[in-house]
Amino acid sequence: MNELYDTIIETYKNKPGALLSVLEEVQRKTEHTYLHEQALTYIAQKMEVPLSQVYSVVTFYSFFNLKPQGFHTITVCRGTACHTRGSKPLLDDVMHLLGLHEGENEEGESYYTTSDMQFTVRTVACFGQCALAPVIAIDDVIYSRMTSEKFAGLLKNLMTKKVPS
Ligand code: FES
Repeated sequence: MNELYDTIIETYKNKPGALLSVLEEVQRKTEHTYLHEQALTYIAQKMEVPLSQVYSVVTFYSFFNLKPQGFHTITVCRGTACHTRGSKPLLDDVMHLLGLHEGENEEGESYYTTSDMQFTVRTVACFGQCALAPVIAIDDVIYSRMTSEKFAGLLKNLMTKKVPS
């Protein structure tokens, strides 16, 4: 794994935003799309950046994950516009369908992963598409004016596809 980190660090060395780029690529290339402690420590040492600075970056940007993620990520917007147009029932639907309970996440984090590592459900404060509320995303695809029926159809379709465990 260190060889992979070295290659990535070498690619971005001396470029603007090198730390951010390295962290992004390491996360993308790590199974279950996250940054584990060992990786962060190694990157900090190799790039001669204080570990505290690395942690500041990964905790500031919501797209960094410090825990393993499911194969699919479902994101429900919980901003005001989406809330007003029914995002809470959509969140409840997906949690129910996947057998997740908000109380399961003991660390107070706003995402939940199924035990088979197939799905992660998370929330965001706003997708910036409030006029199209309620908005959800499945992996990298954003869906607007979502309804419970459409959402259930998309999820069932996703659940029938075989994905690596
Ligand atoms: S509040 Fe949901 S997109 Fe802005």
